[in-house]
Amino acid sequence: MFQSPMYDFGYDIADFYAVHDEYGTMEDFEALIAKAKELDIKVVLDFVPNHGSNESVWFEEALRGHEDYYDYFVWEDGVVDENGVMHPPNNWNSVFRKSAWEYREEVGKYYLHQFVIGQPDFNYRNPAVVEEMKNVLRFWLDKGVAGFRIDAISHLFEVDKELFGGKFPDEPLSGKSTDDPLSYDYLDHVYTVNQDETYDMVYQWRELFDEYEEIDGLQRVVMTEAYTSPQLTMRYFGDGDREGAQMPFNFVLISDVNGQSSAAEIKYALDKFLTFKPIDKLANWVAGNHDNFRVASRFGPKLVDGINMVVLLLPGIAVTYMGEELGMQNGFVSWEDTVDPSACNTDDPINYYQKSRDPERTPFQWNSGKNAGFSTADKTWLPVADTYETLNVEVQQSAEKSHLNVYKKLAALRTLPVFRHGRFESVALNSDVFAFRRWHEGETYLVVINLREHHYHLDLTYFENVEGHLEVVISSVDSTRKIGELLEASNLPISDGESLVLKIVQ
Ligand code: NOJ
Repeated sequence: MFQSPMYDFGYDIADFYAVHDEYGTMEDFEALIAKAKELDIKVVLDFVPNHGSNESVWFEEALRGHEDYYDYFVWEDGVVDENGVMHPPNNWNSVFRKSAWEYREEVGKYYLHQFVIGQPDFNYRNPAVVEEMKNVLRFWLDKGVAGFRIDAISHLFEVDKELFGGKFPDEPLSGKSTDDPLSYDYLDHVYTVNQDETYDMVYQWRELFDEYEEIDGLQRVVMTEAYTSPQLTMRYFGDGDREGAQMPFNFVLISDVNGQSSAAEIKYALDKFLTFKPIDKLANWVAGNHDNFRVASRFGPKLVDGINMVVLLLPGIAVTYMGEELGMQNGFVSWEDTVDPSACNTDDPINYYQKSRDPERTPFQWNSGKNAGFSTADKTWLPVADTYETLNVEVQQSAEKSHLNVYKKLAALRTLPVFRHGRFESVALNSDVFAFRRWHEGETYLVVINLREHHYHLDLTYFENVEGHLEVVISSVDSTRKIGELLEASNLPISDGESLVLKIVQ
């Protein structure tokens, strides 16, 4: 929502202290905060600390030779070959493909951009940058925001080049199956991500948030965005007596599994965060976001309710990307209409789609009317997805069974003590059926998810204290099971792609 030339749709921020003018004014933002406060809704902002914009005043001043701002960014000399041709300083690639270095004649050097050319990386080894970014946080906290989702955190620091004779070293080849030397996956990013200093910076920000808490008693929330191992994810929580993020995002449902995964693979993925997390911290579950294909497109439309059951009923915090409560599907965006730099940088009108984030960014579907009720304009920024006539709020609100209604029931259910405080156990009942149990003070719930197009009879007495009959509490959209129906625990039928929330009858 910050002022941006939109090369990466707002993740290239030209003014960290201003609202992007297409979206409104600072007064609008203040009114939003005031209204949200009245309704007891907390507003959390994106914080994009790793990079700014090449159209920011800071960058422009740097190009003009202003020393203080020059040091805000990461500069490096090019390499001149035997023919006198200048090349980028080393082999580092941008996340969106191609060199992570861009030459600027004004200063005769290359600057680092781990994302698009328009997103110059900040130099976190400069204390002035650290202070500036803390000021950005203070500015928005003073306006009353409740916390931040911290973008691209693992990219914050690069290796200290002084350890390598003052020049950033090449990154080793990853050995991954790609023959495209320009792709991000071609290299093992040992020098550009997950540097030790990054975690300390998160703890410093948390100290700043805690100062605000000391004043008004409200804890500010910190969510960190890092696609990484569980071990490194846990480091964002804190270290010893230093606190960090309350929510280091858990992306296993995005990175580790999909519609082809077996029940055991699902169990293995879900166990990761719970296994590694410190005992006094909460887990969190993220099934979708604006950087990854829709749940319905990754797992198949039949599993939408099942995945929402996982996200909302496992122990910990549930994170829902807009539209996942409706089972929205990827929109088709032609090469001509494609705007996402990650897709455009493939230079490949045939295979761009796999890299594109436009399909999950199509307009939110409110109704079956023009532009799915999202806009009255003749054309929307991205086309509306084909499936909007059924997958929209209006239709799903009035339908007897719908993803939205399942989602609402799950949201209500998760407020019960058994889901807030209950214990958790999961199992792959066979290669296709994943199940878990939550129990607390005599109450027990079971969730059973059939991942495949195959019918089974299950023996749920595998779970301790489960016998007799189970009552259907929630069933997925295509299920024929009625709420309140009783099913035999030792011989429970489950049809293709069906998901059920069941309760032990007392
Ligand atoms: C992660 C954001 O979610 C993504 O949309 C963006 O392109 C990159 N970080 C760079 O800021």
